Order: sequence, then structure tokens, then C-alpha cells
Amino acid sequence: MRTVKYFKRHRMELSLRHPLPPVPALPAGFEWLPWDDSLLDLHAETKFNSFRGHEDALVFPSLGTRAGCHNLMGAIRFRVGFVPQATWLVVGPDGCAGTVQGLRDDAGHGGIQNLGVVPECRGLGLGRALLLMALHGFAEARLPRAFLEVTATNDPAVRLYRSLGFRAAKVLYRAVELPDRAALAVGLWHSPP
Ligand SMILES: CC(C)(COP(=O)(O)OP(=O)(O)OC[C@H]1O[C@@H](n2cnc3c(N)ncnc32)[C@H](O)[C@@H]1OP(=O)(O)O)[C@@H](O)C(=O)NCCC(=O)NCCS
Repeated sequence: MRTVKYFKRHRMELSLRHPLPPVPALPAGFEWLPWDDSLLDLHAETKFNSFRGHEDALVFPSLGTRAGCHNLMGAIRFRVGFVPQATWLVVGPDGCAGTVQGLRDDAGHGGIQNLGVVPECRGLGLGRALLLMALHGFAEARLPRAFLEVTATNDPAVRLYRSLGFRAAKVLYRAVELPDRAALAVGLWHSPP
């Protein structure tokens, strides 16, 4: 038996018409890898390692499997609006640490896709640095505005976005069909609006 649950999400937006804060230096031992097609698998693997077991992997089941993350990366890469300058990987002493991708939408705004830092590397400033690299990439591509969507209960992400000036523009509910056991295990969903 399956249950439909509604996850509350915020669309958050930021004008890119004002100067952005500079990108902070990465901690010692970490470095940037700019987009290259040969990195598609590494982005997918890092996405998988960042979202594995996370609530967002219930909201978007493709984030919860290696194959799903691979398909998602391929779909992002081959979208007409793919913005390579807003797509970055951070690599550390023990391998890939974080990933972000950028997509231009039909309105010409930059959408942040699946910002993720692997659990062992969180709290080091990598999420903020990745987001700023993507925003600078949008600015370089002359996009006037950035946006993203975030699950309302994702405090670390919401705090990060707010601290960089993103503000909630719209509330969305995403309906997800969960098996009953998973629904019970999560316990974080919202009732239908
Ligand atoms: C959200 C995420 C990318 C943050 O990455 P990170 O590298 O740990 O973040 P940073 O070290 O750069 O911290 C930046 C800010 O995020 C917020 N933050 C990070 N971890 C936090 C936590 N555990 N609790 C509350 N706020 C937190 C804070 O505002 C922090 O700023 P501060 O250090 O000045 O307080 C990371 O937690 C993650 O990958 N989570 C799983 C995937 C995910 O939720 N992605 C976002 C989807 S919308």
C-alpha cells in the first residue's frame, strides 16, 4: 500500500543586478574543477553521496539512487539552458566533496540545481563557496536573477540561501507517493494545503 504525502517547498530568488560577495578561498587540500563533459559521472556520484539518506531523496527519488543521479546529470547537461560556468565540483584530499549545476530557464533566469556537499565535508564552508561560484557563473552569463527550490524543513540549506540574500518568492507543495513504511520513517511531511 502507498501513501501520498505533500512536501512543502520554497522557491527562493536573488537579484544578480547587485555585486555578489567574493567566493571564499577553499580550505587547504580542496580545489575547484570547472565543468568538463568528462566530469559528468563524478558530478552524478557526488550528488548521490550528498543526498543519500536525505529527505530530498524522498521528495525526488532519483536523488536516492546512483542510476537516478546519473540520469539526472545527463538530463541537466543536455538541456538547452545548461550553464557550464555555473557548474562546479569541489575535490578534497579524500575525493569529491561537493557539486552544483546551473540551468537557465525560459525566462532567462539562473536555476541552482541540487547543491550538495558530502556529509564528511559539511560545515567547512564548501556549500557557501559552491553556491557563490554558481552565482558568479550566472552573473558572467549575464543572467539577471537566480532562483532555487528548497524543502521547507531543510534548515541548513534555507539558512545558507537566506544568508546570501535569497528570499522566499513562492510556496510550492510536491506530492510524493511513498510506501507506507518510508512514510512512517520520515515523519516530516505536511498535510495537503
Ligand atoms: C546544505 C548544504 C549544501 C550546506 O553545505 P555546507 O558545506 O555544510 O555549508 P557551509 O559550511 O558552507 O555553511 C554555510 C551556511 O549554511 C548554514 N548551515 C550549514 N550547516 C548547517 C547546519 N547543520 N544547521 C544550520 N545551518 C547550517 C549556515 O547558515 C552556514 O553559515 P555559517 O557557517 O555562517 O553559520 C549541505 O548541508 C548538504 O549538502 N546537505 C544535503 C543536500 C542538500 O540539502 N542540498 C540542498 C538542496 S536545496
